[in-house]
Amino acid sequence: MPTVKFKGQTLEVKQGQNLRQALLKAELSPYNGNARWLNCHGLGTCGTCALEVKGAVSEKTAVEKWRLNFPPHQEKNGLRLSCQCTVQGDLELVKQPGFWGEKVG
Ligand code: FES
Repeated sequence: MPTVKFKGQTLEVKQGQNLRQALLKAELSPYNGNARWLNCHGLGTCGTCALEVKGAVSEKTAVEKWRLNFPPHQEKNGLRLSCQCTVQGDLELVKQPGFWGEKVG
């Protein structure tokens, strides 16, 4: 099974599992602050579950491409929406600051 490293923990996650769901199940929130409560619950529209992802995940969905090109996100930041990704290999994740996790660099 692939491993996912996030917030100092390492999880084993089933290949193909939704990344947001895997993190929430392990009580590792992909959200910052009140975004934990104020989010779209995985529809791909709010953008608050954005993470830096190193490793293999699924291709971007259409809604993910749209949302990551819509402020405050910018495509050049290279983030991924955890609710739109499935795990395809070992991953290392980082949550950046900001309500949306958009403050990269
Ligand atoms: S939970 Fe809203 S975009 Fe992922």
